[in-house]
Amino acid sequence: MAENRNIYVNEKDHLVIGGCDSVELVKEFGTPLYVMDEYTIRNNMRIFKNAFDEFYEGKGLVLYASKAFCTTAICRIAHQEGLGLDVVSGGELYTAKKAGFPMEKVYFHGNNKSPKELSEALDSGIGRIVVDSVHELTVLNSLCQEKGVNARISVRVKPGIEAHTHDYILTGQIDSKFGVAVENGEIFEFARMAKCFENIELVGLHCHIGSQIFELEPFEKTVQVMLKVMADLKERYGIVITELNLGGGYGVQYTEEDDYIHYAKYIKSVSDTVKKICGEYGLETPFILMEPGRAIVANAGITLYTVGPVKDIKNVRKYVAIDGGMSDNPRYALYESKYTFVLANRMSAPKDQIVTVAGKHCESGDLLGKDVPLADVKPGDILAVLDTGAYNYSMSMNYNRTGRPPVVLVKDGKARVIVKGEDYEDIVRNDIIPEDL
Ligand code: LLP
Repeated sequence: MAENRNIYVNEKDHLVIGGCDSVELVKEFGTPLYVMDEYTIRNNMRIFKNAFDEFYEGKGLVLYASKAFCTTAICRIAHQEGLGLDVVSGGELYTAKKAGFPMEKVYFHGNNKSPKELSEALDSGIGRIVVDSVHELTVLNSLCQEKGVNARISVRVKPGIEAHTHDYILTGQIDSKFGVAVENGEIFEFARMAKCFENIELVGLHCHIGSQIFELEPFEKTVQVMLKVMADLKERYGIVITELNLGGGYGVQYTEEDDYIHYAKYIKSVSDTVKKICGEYGLETPFILMEPGRAIVANAGITLYTVGPVKDIKNVRKYVAIDGGMSDNPRYALYESKYTFVLANRMSAPKDQIVTVAGKHCESGDLLGKDVPLADVKPGDILAVLDTGAYNYSMSMNYNRTGRPPVVLVKDGKARVIVKGEDYEDIVRNDIIPEDL
């Protein structure tokens, strides 16, 4: 199996992850079941951190983009591995706090943070607020004045770079809801305004050009644009920026069609470019931040399902129904994203069929994969979807009043529940029948 996943096949022909036989996991925890491998998560975090230490002399910080998979346990792991955290909502901020994450290493993103969220962030002693608009800047400044505190901020910049990825996860171009643009000078307006606010200290520029990007070129181009902005700010307005946050977006190999990225090589190349261009502009090299999310957790996770009916519609399609679907993994429904499927209980069975994996929801678009290779699958088989660690649990929902599956963290043959599964009572917990009904 792929070298970048901590999985193998045992003598029973079962898929093993983190030393745990997946068939045994299903016996103990049922299906659907999210399984996250602790070793892979830590290893991915170390790849980024070590590359930074090696190629940028440690003058940087890797922030784990918690939106990819946000629970208290993963926040704890990120802290133990020396990473900072990117949060994008009051809920993610609260999760970090609950996990005891040091708030000075938390960066707060989002294009429409509410005054309440901004206030909570200030009260928590957050490291940086990544301000997205002039409106947010004024709201934040008023809050700071009320509280008698100062905020150190970054500004989210749209560098005007388009990378090759799905439209829904592109964010760096001028026509994006995130941030202020470079092309029309919004960034300079923003910076001049920030300079006038006594309680605001603008220390950083931030950008994020999109997600699931494989080419190095857009990242390199982004660095060039951002450093030019830094140089212009200094030259035109005397505004010295000391931090450059380059966002996340590093692609992940979901199927054999995707390339495998050596993240360390990317970090080396980006670091070299930063140093070179800073030299050319006569700028001091900034403190660099990066925010990988998917690259940290995607290949650490698998999801296990039990196969239900298999409908072989002659000359049309073979549907394989599983006991989950878009409620635990909405990514096919949203982006037609591709995954690798295996039969966890019969790993050596030849993949000689083309099937469509369908969820159990009342929705024809509720698929996990269309026309994917799989072995001759039967009801009762255990289907594993690989690389589901990112944007699966975190994007799960209760459609059709389906409880979210539990998440177990596996390591050295031991499985620990890090998120309890939701039962029927959890589903009706917030329902109220008014007294006069
Ligand atoms: N930083 C910022 C400001 C972001 O907006 C994101 C992702 C990241 C970092 C992390 O990006 P990553 O390294 O994970 O690509 N739900 C979509 C992905 C949306 C990404 C949103 N922002 C999916 O399932 O593909």
